[in-house]
Formats: sequence, C-alpha cells, structure tokens
Amino acid sequence: MATPTAPFPPIVGQVTNAAHQPDLAGNRCPVADEIDATACAVSGELPPELRGSFVRNGPNPAFEPIGRYSALDGDGMLHAVTIDDAGVSYRNRWIRSRGLGAEVAHGAAVYPGLGDVLNFPDRALTGDAGPVKNPANTHIIEHAGRRLALWEGGLPTEVTSGLDTIGEYDFDGRLRGPMTAHPRLDPRTGEMLMFGYSLFEPYLVYHLVEADGTLSHSVEIDLPAPVMIHDMIMTEQHAVFLETPYVFDLENIGKGPMVRWMPERGARIGVLPRRGAAEDLAWFDIEPGHVQHFWSGWVEGDRIEFHGCRYQNPDFGIDNTTELDHRSAKDHYALPARFWVDLAAGTAGWETMDDLEGDFNRINPAYDGVRVRYLYMSAYTQPDRHLGDFDAVVKYDDATGKRTIWSAGPAGHVGESVFVADPDGSAEDDGWLLNIVYYHDRHTSDLVVIDARDLAAGPVAAVHLPRRVPFGFHANWFPAVDR
Ligand SMILES: [Fe+2]
Repeated sequence: MATPTAPFPPIVGQVTNAAHQPDLAGNRCPVADEIDATACAVSGELPPELRGSFVRNGPNPAFEPIGRYSALDGDGMLHAVTIDDAGVSYRNRWIRSRGLGAEVAHGAAVYPGLGDVLNFPDRALTGDAGPVKNPANTHIIEHAGRRLALWEGGLPTEVTSGLDTIGEYDFDGRLRGPMTAHPRLDPRTGEMLMFGYSLFEPYLVYHLVEADGTLSHSVEIDLPAPVMIHDMIMTEQHAVFLETPYVFDLENIGKGPMVRWMPERGARIGVLPRRGAAEDLAWFDIEPGHVQHFWSGWVEGDRIEFHGCRYQNPDFGIDNTTELDHRSAKDHYALPARFWVDLAAGTAGWETMDDLEGDFNRINPAYDGVRVRYLYMSAYTQPDRHLGDFDAVVKYDDATGKRTIWSAGPAGHVGESVFVADPDGSAEDDGWLLNIVYYHDRHTSDLVVIDARDLAAGPVAAVHLPRRVPFGFHANWFPAVDR
C-alpha cells in the first residue's frame, strides 16, 4: 500500500453559514475538525463476528462557500468507525483534494459550486489543482488493494486505511476521464466494471478493470447528449446502462438547473457484453424514469432483470437560481421498481414494486450480478422530509413481496445501510445492516447495527459516536484483514 505523498497540516473548518443556506443547516452543517477517539460507548451487544471498519464518505465543506451551496459541492470527509478486540474507535479526515489544498493555501473558498461550475476560478489561486474541484465526496470502495474515494466528475482519489489521502489515481494512465462513484465489483471474478460520463464527448465510456487492478478494456458509447448516469448494472455476462433524459444543459447555467429532466427525449437501456465492443451494444427503449441507484442485475433465460429506485421527476438541485427548499421528498421521490429487458423480443419494461419512497439501495455484496432476493433501502415514513433525509431502513423479500421496516422515529435521520455478512452464516440475509443515524433531539449520531434477518426487532447494538456526523452519501465495510 502506498503512503501519502506529503504531510498535510490539520484543517480547521471555517463554515459559519452566514448566508443561511438550507444545505448547510441542521445536520447538513459540516464539522470543523478532525478527531480520533477510542472506547466509544456501546448500547446493546455488538456481534463478536463484526471486526473491521465502517467508513462513510460525504460532503463537509471546509470554507464558507462562494455563492449557492449544494450538498454535491462539499469537500469529501471520511468517517471511520473501527471495531476490534480493544473496542470501538472513531476517526474522521478530510480528503486532501488538490482543490482543497488550493483553498487551504488561500485561506478561503476558491471554487464555486456545481451550479456555477463554468465560472472557473483565477488560475493564480488554483495553481495545478485545475479549474474544477474534485472533492471525492461520494463513495469509498476497495479494489485490487487500493482504497478509492469516488466522485463521478473526476478521477478516483486513493486513500489509506487510516484515511490519509494519497492522491488522484488514473490506473497507470489508462483512465483518461472521470470514474463513476458506483463501480460494480464482481465477487466471483474480482473484476470491477465501471464507467465515466462527461459533459463533453465522449459522453459515456465503459471500462473493465481486471482483478489485479489493470484497466484492460474501454468502450466509448455514443450518446446524443450529455446525461447524468450515476450507477450501472452488472450481470455475469453484461454491463448494462440506463440512459435517461436527465440532460446537462450548459447554456442553462445561471438561468436555472444545469441538469434538466426532458422526458420528451425518451429513455433506453444499453446492454453490452462485458468485454464487448461498441458495435456489440444493443439498445432497448423504455418509458422515461431516472434511477440513481440499482440493486443487483442478473440473466434469466432471454431476460435481464434488475431493480432500482425510480424517479418520475428527478431534481437534485444543481442550480444557482431557484430556492433549494423546494426539493421536498414529496415532489421528487423515487419508488422501488423492477425492470426487465427481453433480449429476444427486443423490448424492455418496468413496474413499481412498492409505494414506499426511498433510495440508497444496498444488497449483500456477494450477490451482485446474480439474482438477489433481499433488497435493502433507506426510506421516508415520517411526514415532510426533505429529499435525502431518510428516517427508516427497509428490507424487501423479492421472493414473497414481504416488506419489513425499522423506523428511527420522528427524531431519527438514517443514512445508507451497509450489509455485512455473518462469517458463520450461509443464507443471503445472514448478516447485519450498519447505518449512521442522526438524532435531532440530542444532536448526536449513532452507528446502529441491525440484524438483517430481523429488522423489526430494532438494532442489536448502537455505537454512540463521540461527535455528530453530518449527512453524507455512501459507505462501505472493510473487514479486519486478520479474519
Ligand atoms: Fe450514489
């Protein structure tokens, strides 16, 4: 494992939210420092098999933003909760992006938010950090021994298991463009399937990374316009993309959202053999609906099937003109849906699975690429929730249609669940769901541990974290290496 390239002095956050921006209010307010804590208090009983680190990424701006701030803009911060024989410890660190380095040197924000992204900062302030900041704030994964913090607009950023930043990683020069925050890791072959989308041609490039970390195969996919593609689907044979009309409209920057929902432009599903070429790609038209996150995908006879949370009317607020408060979960929610492609008939379709609004889909990662039975989701069950402010964890049994819910209650705000398999188990749902929950009545955060076999029983344990953890995006579990 490489070591950090240069020591980086501690950062002290400067955000006061003097402009009262909604995306910096409440538990969206960043924390101002980096800490290490040991012997965290635990309620209940942690399963003795649970040994490793839960790491969550999310936006945590270090400096008072220039102009309008969206949660997509904030500097990435990693929060790690590590469980070992000595107990439970907590550590948080900013990801030292080159852009954040330029801002630290300047002592103030240099980069505007994504809603004003083409208003490039003065090169005298950014130096070699480039015109757009790569905050690496969306996800954290590990492949071929490298731990990568991801942001879909740029290269991955390599970090250590201790959360120190190594720097941007380009797969030995083979990745010449951005990398999605949602690659697909094949638990059977060790391969990583991934892609990058861009505002400029080529709009979509698919890549396959071998188990040893070599990026061996790239395919440029021709799209009619630049669109937001946040996640992909993997089967044992295919890479699958849902191209939806959530279109980047650079001319609209400054007048309204830079990404606009244009259902009149249609949607389609692209199916490519994993090691296929551009001419092997087959497209299947489908009614427009946007999906940020999929569960698993698999082949069933002549069909490809998958599940995802489907937005009829997406709006993620990448905009510097309208009021951010309008993004109520009531107006722009997603519903869990089942999709299929009939390869023989040349058709594709979908149906809603449930009427519970949610997102942040996860599965037992051993089942990615094959038929999955248990689907986990974060959901809204309390009234008047803001988009992304979930309050419940849901499990669907796709074989029976049964739904089970754990609600964090009116004061609870749940993040993304991560499934950790029970090493002594064999069933798909033998394991635990880990989730950082913020309670606004006590203004603190817990890492809750829920038995995935019985959500309704509530958490079997809760780690009381030594500090509030602001809302974030995606997380993963990294087992202790000695197991
Ligand atoms: Fe995501």
